[in-house]
Amino acid sequence: MEGKERYFNTQSVHFTKKDTSKNKSKARPIYQTSAFVFENLNDMESYFTGEKDYLYSRYGNPNTEDLGKGVALLEEMEDGIATSSGMSAIMCAVLSVCQAGDHLLAALDVYGGTYTLFEQELQTFGIDVSFVQSNGDWKKELRSNTKAFFCESVTNPHVRIEDLENVVTFSKGHQLRVIVDNTFATPFLIKPVHQNVDLVIHSATKYLGGHSDVTAGVVVGSKALMERVKQLVITMGATLSPFEAWLACRGLKTLGLRMERQCANAEKLAAFLKKQPQVDHVYYPKGLSEHGNGAIVTMRLKEEVNVDTFFSSFSFVKIAPTLAGVETSISYPVGTSHRSVPQEKREALGISPQDVRISVGIEDSRDIETDFLQALNQA
Ligand SMILES: Cc1ncc(COP(=O)(O)O)c(C=O)c1O
Repeated sequence: MEGKERYFNTQSVHFTKKDTSKNKSKARPIYQTSAFVFENLNDMESYFTGEKDYLYSRYGNPNTEDLGKGVALLEEMEDGIATSSGMSAIMCAVLSVCQAGDHLLAALDVYGGTYTLFEQELQTFGIDVSFVQSNGDWKKELRSNTKAFFCESVTNPHVRIEDLENVVTFSKGHQLRVIVDNTFATPFLIKPVHQNVDLVIHSATKYLGGHSDVTAGVVVGSKALMERVKQLVITMGATLSPFEAWLACRGLKTLGLRMERQCANAEKLAAFLKKQPQVDHVYYPKGLSEHGNGAIVTMRLKEEVNVDTFFSSFSFVKIAPTLAGVETSISYPVGTSHRSVPQEKREALGISPQDVRISVGIEDSRDIETDFLQALNQA
């Protein structure tokens, strides 16, 4: 990957490989093919000797490679691979460091889908998981077979900033690998490699893609660790399609611009919501990064505010069980992202039926405020 020495926005615009063909395309072409063709058997052999890059798209394709390597560049990691979704990125990352008979420590406040994957599915692979609170006694949960620690750099829905330095110090002290889901922060705000995290995963469905039109994931890490991750992605068929990868790469080019604008809008909206009489509490972090405090704002509506009416009262803000697109959207953690988390665990996490998660977009901030104001007034 070229351009390691450049700044973030330049890297994100120019991360794809140079076109070396005779007629050079300005935009990266889409290699919408399941396989590559060869002149003869000798020519095909050249893939196996490393002279040719591609054989079969599940093993590798220029567009999926662009995405994996592009995110690795932005995360300052050595290597990366695109996956079919954020969930498959998490699964392949975990399986690369844990086998049957191993034990994983995971933060209790991970995304609900990750919670279900760990709680229900990993057991069937013979991997035990213990969930830990950020302020809990992690040492008590350690076992002789504990192999890794999984957490999110910024959590959902209360936008808690994980103390990655603490996680890494604890983990390295007990020979655990650290996997961080950096979906909410993106490398624009946080680069977990600076805290010596081993593997970083993303739901590229969110900010990396940024336009709510693609489902994708990425795992990045050192060359040595990525070898096993890649093997798993290929053999388990967790590969991303070329077109999806191309869309995510197109989104990646504007990641810095979008984040700057979305963080600025979120800052303004959080301050605005704090002043509204219908709002009990606003969750919006301070000190996340020098580039901004993220674009997710969660608010708790007062008990007397009708949540149903509130959700139905927007003019352009969308109700959607996702986040990070250029358009502002709201979601209901109890009903979607944390639906699968048992009620007592949700309560332990302090997630309330009055909580509304807001993913702030790039619209004009005055319009966003106006839409929230009229929805609050109707509820
Ligand atoms: C923090 C986080 N990680 C992972 C995922 C899973 O990503 P995907 O839906 O792309 O599989 C999500 C989905 O919402 C998420 O919010």
